[in-house]
Amino acid sequence: MASVWVERARWALALGFGLLLGCARPTTESAELATGRRFVAERSFRRAALEQSLAITTNGEARLRLEQYGTDGGWEALPVLSVELAPATLAQAQPLARLWTGSIPWSEQALLELGRRAFEEWPAQRAPRLRSVLGAGQGAAIDRRRVEATGAWLDDRGRVGGFVWARYPDGTTEPALTCASCHARPDAQGRLHHGPASDFDLGALVGEGWGRGHVDVTADGRDNPVAIPDLRATRHQRRLHHSGNLHVSLEALAVRTETLLITARENLVRPPRELAFALAYYVWRLGERGAPAPEPSVLFRDSCGRCHSGSTGAGGLVPVAELGIDAAATESSLRGTGGYRVPSLHAVSQRSRLTHLGWALTLEQFFDPARLRTYAGHPFGLELEPEQRRSLVRELAQW
Ligand code: HEC
Ligand code: HEC
Repeated sequence: MASVWVERARWALALGFGLLLGCARPTTESAELATGRRFVAERSFRRAALEQSLAITTNGEARLRLEQYGTDGGWEALPVLSVELAPATLAQAQPLARLWTGSIPWSEQALLELGRRAFEEWPAQRAPRLRSVLGAGQGAAIDRRRVEATGAWLDDRGRVGGFVWARYPDGTTEPALTCASCHARPDAQGRLHHGPASDFDLGALVGEGWGRGHVDVTADGRDNPVAIPDLRATRHQRRLHHSGNLHVSLEALAVRTETLLITARENLVRPPRELAFALAYYVWRLGERGAPAPEPSVLFRDSCGRCHSGSTGAGGLVPVAELGIDAAATESSLRGTGGYRVPSLHAVSQRSRLTHLGWALTLEQFFDPARLRTYAGHPFGLELEPEQRRSLVRELAQW
């Protein structure tokens, strides 16, 4: 009851202010846009969002963020990255241009458009070694076979792997990775879709055997690559990352995006905060679904429901021992939690790989007991009759 009253009081206040200010600001601004405004404007809001997002506070990533994020000084005092960008293309070289011009109208449309472009063009991570794929400089002819050897995608616009050329204020121009290098994939017609995991083999570029679609994201002295997750499911997760070290909310995702864009650039620069929010908001909206998820069947509830619960099948952490799988990623001193999150099953039949190990299996194969000979772990459902397993797979295709 109390919260209803608080809500009403807030609305009354908002309306009152709107009238006082001659309705300068539309009173219909969504809660999501309002979250973004506060994220950009209020350090205390960012700090609170960070603290609420941490499911575990004792590992390395959590400690670094508690020390540096939303505090006096720390990462708040970093310079904002200033950069001109041009996507790498097979066709004629694109001119270098600024993606961020210093301000943005605070509307859903403008933010989603900035997020979409930043997803493909913001230089999330320096990658000087990409010269071996893209040639010595912008405008050099790109060898298609070299691109294909890295598993990077090519799309119907001639774009290459979500790679960009970035020119920094000191005059250096070098290649960089964007979100789309790992989190986008063209369909059979070559049209690029944002969200599904790519086949990019970053390990091949840096001399590590991680394999396609896998990255060792933690510099913890251990060999523990994980599969690139499908971002269309992110907003439906209860926890972020395979190790489930963060709780999920829009503000948590904004903090996570900003801190990623700081740590991936050696803690030297930060992204424009509006751009960090736009990216998070864009990722959030990638997971929008037209219709509610179907009601789970009795079979699903009985066999799977104790872990995959809620409207899209996400759950909390499961201890490694219960899953019968390797523990490397979740023993990380930086991101580890001792368990793996129960992933949401939203659009699960469209994923390119399954589980944190990134098995390139279809759901039919995942629920075929024969796979235990090669892929042990997650044995749930394999004990069912063939017809029941087939019906589970059909059900999952509706999620
Ligand atoms: C080099 C490849 C790579 C790049 C570039 C990259 N990511 Fe990721 N991303 C990953 C991997 C691998 C994970 C899984 C990490 C884990 O679970 O610990 C991940 C996880 C995530 C997650 C958590 C998803 C979930 O369901 O738990 C989000 C959100 C995300 N990335 C967004 C982004 C955004 C936004 C960008 C660009 C600013 C980006 N990533 C750039 C590889 C990449
Ligand atoms: C004990 C808890 C538990 C039970 C029971 C369980 N799951 Fe899972 N499930 C998990 C966890 C944890 C993962 C992630 C494993 C990993 O990342 O290695 C997972 C992963 C999956 C995946 C792969 C999704 C992806 O993208 O990685 C599918 C599909 C799935 N489960 C379906 C089912 C179905 C169907 C059932 C019932 C027959 C079931 N699960 C029973 C915990 C469970």
